[in-house]
Amino acid sequence: MIPRHPFQLLLNRRFGTPGTVILPDGGYRRAREAITAWPGYAPTPLLPLPEVARGARLGAVHWKDEGARFGLGSFKALGGAYAVMRLLQAELARRDQARAATPEELAAGAHAEATRAITVTCATDGNHGRSVAWGAERFGCRCVIFVHEGVSQARRDAIARYGAEIRVVPGTYDDAVRAAQRAAEAEGWLVVSDTSYPGYTEVPRDVMQGYRLMAEEAAEALEKPPTHVFVQGGVGGVAAAVSVQMRACYGAAAPRLVVVEPEKAACLLASAEAGQPTAVTGALDTLMAGLACGEPSLLAWQELERAAFAFMAVPDDAAVACMRLLARRAPPVVAGESAVAGLAGLLLAAQEPFARAALGLDAESRVLLFGTEGATDPDSYARLVPPG
Ligand SMILES: Cc1ncc(COP(=O)(O)O)c(C=O)c1O
Repeated sequence: MIPRHPFQLLLNRRFGTPGTVILPDGGYRRAREAITAWPGYAPTPLLPLPEVARGARLGAVHWKDEGARFGLGSFKALGGAYAVMRLLQAELARRDQARAATPEELAAGAHAEATRAITVTCATDGNHGRSVAWGAERFGCRCVIFVHEGVSQARRDAIARYGAEIRVVPGTYDDAVRAAQRAAEAEGWLVVSDTSYPGYTEVPRDVMQGYRLMAEEAAEALEKPPTHVFVQGGVGGVAAAVSVQMRACYGAAAPRLVVVEPEKAACLLASAEAGQPTAVTGALDTLMAGLACGEPSLLAWQELERAAFAFMAVPDDAAVACMRLLARRAPPVVAGESAVAGLAGLLLAAQEPFARAALGLDAESRVLLFGTEGATDPDSYARLVPPG
């Protein structure tokens, strides 16, 4: 299917131990109700990939294609924009300007004068910032987005299109997170981060509650429950949201969750190895831009440290091979760099007997993958997947 590449696989020795509830179901129901009422909402497609299943000697492989989500190109549309909405509701109440502003009122500009005086901010590799900027535009507040130098011009432009101001800072994603935080403290802005840290969990919790909708849609579309989910990890937010939702849908029969990261930014694998949240340093210069995170999200880690079955780290070359594999199948699937880490992990593991055995992959396995973005950077996509 794809050439062999070296990869890391770590079985989680804490798998199955009891832990805390990070995403209460009531919060998810609220998120689902709000997001499914937004104009343009539709579940994204769930595609069978029978040739991938055959090639990897598995029972079935399904691909949840997030490329069309709200016209933003990634699943992140579900999280950041929803968190902006929640934050504005809370802030208007705190300022005594509206006790319980509804999403419809916010979108219709009923509190425009008050919301215009509020600024939201975040750091991003591209997709989260796009979602926050989109939410800020829809719900009528000001938005300043921090990106590091490595974020491509195309990704910056895609955010600016929603009226956000872009600020570029030296360093990595983690430096941009700190810059956004500092600016927010100095200016009285509200941080809408997709990663959580001690003392900052409410907003990322809302972000992750939004992500759960993607996982529930997938479960609703599947005829049989999956046995495995391979999902990519940046700070771990989406993997943790998928993990929680799989448990909500399937209970004790929830699939084994394998978290797959780029080898150059494998902070979740490093955390599992160390037994505590652990940062990785270095340039984090993986092609998988959305996964170029060196520090795990605290909340996400609290879920994954006990619920992930295994962690993998894969090289960029395997991701590119997967993008091409999907682009050249019929019908083609357009998957961006950060969308394919899960598929890369699956295909690398499936061809190594030790990994197949360790993960319990066999001809009966039904694997669910999340294609978390389309070609969100069209220039980069065209370079990596030349036509033909
Ligand atoms: C396309 C895509 N997939 C996956 C992720 C990883 O999400 P998380 O950082 O919540 O682990 C990101 C993060 O930006 C992303 O943009």
